[in-house]
Amino acid sequence: MYAKRVSAIEISGIRKLFEAAGKDSINLGLGQPDFDTPPHIKEAAIEAIREGKTGYTSNAGIEELRAAICEKMRRENQLSYQPDQVIVTAGASEALHVVMQALVEKGDRVVFSDPGFVSYQALAMIAEGRPVPMPLDRTFHIEPERAKELMDGARLFILNSPSNPTGAVEEEETIRAVVEYGEDRGVTVVTDEVYEHFIYEKKHASPARFGENVITINAASKTYAMTGWRIGYLAAQKEVVEQCLKVHQYCQACATSISQYAALAAYAGPQDSVGEMREEYRARRDLLFHGLRELGFEFPIPEGAFYAFVPLGQELTGKVLRKGVVIVPGNAFGKNAPEHARISYAASRQNLKLALARIKEAMGD
Ligand SMILES: Cc1ncc(COP(=O)(O)O)c(C=O)c1O
Repeated sequence: MYAKRVSAIEISGIRKLFEAAGKDSINLGLGQPDFDTPPHIKEAAIEAIREGKTGYTSNAGIEELRAAICEKMRRENQLSYQPDQVIVTAGASEALHVVMQALVEKGDRVVFSDPGFVSYQALAMIAEGRPVPMPLDRTFHIEPERAKELMDGARLFILNSPSNPTGAVEEEETIRAVVEYGEDRGVTVVTDEVYEHFIYEKKHASPARFGENVITINAASKTYAMTGWRIGYLAAQKEVVEQCLKVHQYCQACATSISQYAALAAYAGPQDSVGEMREEYRARRDLLFHGLRELGFEFPIPEGAFYAFVPLGQELTGKVLRKGVVIVPGNAFGKNAPEHARISYAASRQNLKLALARIKEAMGD
C-alpha cells in the first residue's frame, strides 16, 4: 500500500525521545543552536517583506545570494565556484536529498560514517540506493584504508567533518586521500560542512580543494543560528548542478524568498556573531568535558560541532533520561556505538551544570 523505500524507514529515534521528555527536563538532545539569529539578519528579512520581495525567486536562488555564497567559499574555504554552480536549498537537508535523487540509481552504494548523521541512511533509502555504514576508528575518525575499500564500486561517499554526533574533525590528509581516491574510482564525495565554524583546535579543510568530483553542501542553519529559516546550498561542477536543479525545481521551486534575503545579509555582512558563538560553545564544551571527566568518563575531547559523544553505557543513559536530562542514545546514529550517548552543548552553562549534577545522581542510583 505504501512505497517500501519509505515504509521501511524508521522515524528518527531523536524525535521519539523529545516526545517522551518530561516538563522539567533539561534538553541536551537538540541539534540546533540555542542562540537567536543575529539582529542584522532579522532586519534584512523584515526589509525584504516591507519591500514586497515575497514572490518566487529563480529556481537556483537569487543571484546576489549565490554570488555572496561563492565569495564566502572563496574567502573561507579557498574554493572557486561561480554563481551558476550553486543552488540555494531549504537547508542542508534538502541539498542532501536533491543530490541523492540526482545521482543515486537503484541499488547504488552510498557510504557514510557509522555513527553518523541520521539523514544519510534514510535519504539513500528514499533514493533506492544501498546504504553502506562505515565503521570508524576508536576515536571516531575515518580510517582511510577502510574508506577506500568501501569506496570501491560505490556511487557516493558522504563526508561530515566536523561530525554529528561524534564531534570528530578529520585531518586534511584523510580528506585529501578520500577525495583523490574518489576521483580515481568515479565515486562522488558529498561533503556536509554545516558545522565548519565550530572547530576548537584543529582547522577545517574543504574537500573540494582536493578534487573536482565533490559536491559541497552547507547551510546558514548552524553558522548563523538560523535553523528555522531553512537556507542551505549545494555547490558542484556545472553538469552536476544542472541535474540537481531539476529535482530542486520540481520539489521546492525555490528556497523561501524572505529567508534568502536574510541569508544574503548573513553571508555578506559582519561575521562577529559566528566567532562569539564559537567561543561560547568552546567554553561549554570545556565545562561539559571536564565535568564528565571528573565523573570518571574517559573519552577524547570533542573537536568540533556542539556535541560530546560519551561512553555512558546503555543502562546509565536510561537512568539519565529518567532523571530528566534528554540525551540521545548512540543507537540513534547507527549500529556501531550503542554504548555511547550524544550530549549536545548547545545549551546554557547553567543547564549543563544542572545536567552534570543529575548525571552524577543517576550514577549513584
Ligand atoms: C550533519 C548535519 N547535516 C545536515 C543537517 C541539516 O541541516 P539543515 O537544518 O540546514 O537542513 C544537520 C542538522 O542537524 C546536521 O547535523
